[in-house]
Amino acid sequence: MSRTFLVAATLAAAIALGAGSASAQDSIKIGVVIPMTGTSGPVGREIAAGTKLYMAQHGDTVAGKKIELIIRDDASVPDNAKRITQELIVNDHVNFLGAGLTPSAMAMAPIATQGKVVTVVMVSGTSVVTERSPYYARTSFTLGQQSGIIADWAVQNGSKKAVSILSDWAPGAEAGKVFESNFTKDGGQVLETLKVPLANPDFAPFLQRASDLHPDTLFVFVPAGQAGTFARQFAERGLDKSGIKLIGPGDIVDDDDLPNTGDTLLGVVTAGIYSAAHPSELNKQYVAAYQKANNHRPNFISVGGYDGMHLIYEALKKTNGNTDADTVIEVMKGMSWESPRGPIAIDPRTRDIVQNVYIRKVEKKDGEPWAVEFQTFPAVKDPLKEAETK
Ligand code: PHB
Repeated sequence: MSRTFLVAATLAAAIALGAGSASAQDSIKIGVVIPMTGTSGPVGREIAAGTKLYMAQHGDTVAGKKIELIIRDDASVPDNAKRITQELIVNDHVNFLGAGLTPSAMAMAPIATQGKVVTVVMVSGTSVVTERSPYYARTSFTLGQQSGIIADWAVQNGSKKAVSILSDWAPGAEAGKVFESNFTKDGGQVLETLKVPLANPDFAPFLQRASDLHPDTLFVFVPAGQAGTFARQFAERGLDKSGIKLIGPGDIVDDDDLPNTGDTLLGVVTAGIYSAAHPSELNKQYVAAYQKANNHRPNFISVGGYDGMHLIYEALKKTNGNTDADTVIEVMKGMSWESPRGPIAIDPRTRDIVQNVYIRKVEKKDGEPWAVEFQTFPAVKDPLKEAETK
């Protein structure tokens, strides 16, 4: 037997044992693997804040068992996520996992499957992630969910020639694919698709190239944490005053960065799943409580953590504290509730999130820019999964 095989076999046995002994405990452990440092640090901090706020509001006991939240920093390195997940299962005997960015969520999937641990995908926006483990359920979003809707809106509102600027990794590719498919089907033309490196992006040369192509519309996806840099470089090239319409999924008007973008993004229209300006009573309470605890607005990432905890709490109530993965994932399927973003549900067929997508325009209110919703597309599924079944 090769050494690699031995290591893998030992690990598999350890994971199986680790998971087995977990169900006998009186406390329930949730291990969340997210980036707390590095470029994606803001993403992990929003998730941590969302999960902690949920626990502060709903207590730390469910079905008579104490809930213990363990947050681990993978610095958005998939190998770290893999190692941390193994440790969480084998050493900490976690009963649930929370997954973060797409590459890490992909790396964790075989381990979560082998260890039989239900994993709530709290950040990743890539369609395929939920298919990587039968124990994955998503409370974040997909890029496709938002990108098709903004493409249709743009064409209906006069866009004919677009250039796409996409962060060069899986969620960017999906955003671009769904945008182009709808935009061209509606009669528009995508002149060029420009891919910007994910790490330490310099948007300037791509913005110059886009501007040289004279599109009427610029479709942009940058992940959470990069909207501020993008907005600054967009304004430096004078593109905010060029008459080119800037559109995208919600990420370019991230509430984390929006307050610091001055007038640059005023008038920008996006299709997004959450705005801190969502006018429901529940969201007003969420924003106030989040702001009090963290001193800044919650963003679209934070609700993935908040709702992820809700999904776990409600599933545990239904199973009466039983954490057996096959039992838990069954009760999660089809669950629906009101989130600060509006009504959401877990699709019983795909374990993916079904949620409203809102068209929003950036407007100034009380001196600060906000993404103000003006149209709602109810109960939107991930279009890439729906396309597979046709
Ligand atoms: C992802 O990990 O797929 C992801 C992260 C941040 C975003 C969008 C997608 O803003």
